[in-house]
Amino acid sequence: MNEKRALVQIRHLSKGYAEGSRARPILADVDLDIAEGEFFVLLGKSGSGKSTLLNLISGIDTPDSGSLMIDGTDITTLSERELTLFRRDHIGIIFQFFNLIPTLTVRENITLPVELRGGSADQRALELLERVGLRDRAEAYPDRLSGGEQQRIAIARALAQDPAIIIADEPTGNLDEETGQQILRLLLELTRDVGRTLIMATHNPEIVPLADRVCRIHESKLVITLRESQPVKELIL
Ligand SMILES: Nc1ncnc2c1ncn2[C@@H]1O[C@H](COP(=O)(O)OP(=O)(O)OP(=O)(O)O)[C@@H](O)[C@H]1O
Ligand SMILES: [Mg+2]
Repeated sequence: MNEKRALVQIRHLSKGYAEGSRARPILADVDLDIAEGEFFVLLGKSGSGKSTLLNLISGIDTPDSGSLMIDGTDITTLSERELTLFRRDHIGIIFQFFNLIPTLTVRENITLPVELRGGSADQRALELLERVGLRDRAEAYPDRLSGGEQQRIAIARALAQDPAIIIADEPTGNLDEETGQQILRLLLELTRDVGRTLIMATHNPEIVPLADRVCRIHESKLVITLRESQPVKELIL
């Protein structure tokens, strides 16, 4: 890695689920540093633990053991309430199925997380809507939008508080190829180009050459597979 500081520092992280009377490991003793500004991609077969790892980094889920430092704070030591506040300030999350709130308008979906923090978000929301090309849909409800449009709103929402880390779990997984490419370009433009850290799980091999680093989860371990310059074909699942 370069001299940039590690924004995410994971040490000895383990997570498993009970299966009958036995514990089934999903992640076992994982160590990982992700640098500020890095575009980090996570590959791996379905069920290998990609979402599990992302949910641990974003504090949605808690590990069985290990530490997880984000921007200098070990989030495994935070209370539920502290974690919610920490997440709100530091992390923007984009899901495969958009997860917009159906009873709120597009504009309200974007402003809500900022308003919960006591900020005024309308101007920022409109700017972001402009950036994602949906300024004219501000007062629409999410169910009136296509999948690609909903994902653009979800991106705007994730960026509303300018978080240091954007976590995207298969953000193009539910979109057709062309729309997926547009969404990806937009995401890169709005995050990486302004020095934000982007952590993405995907099955989409076209993302690989764009990433700074690609990892694969294999048998509960994280395998650093390649950098941009290395051959990728045989590693794509
Ligand atoms: N709450 C849970 N209870 C029990 N098992 C779980 C739970 N959540 C996830 N798992 C299991 O953990 C494993 C890893 O799941 P995860 O969702 O992280 O995989 P993934 O790599 O994201 O897969 P996909 O590519 O299909 O999204 C799976 O076998 C899944 O069934
Ligand atoms: Mg997943």
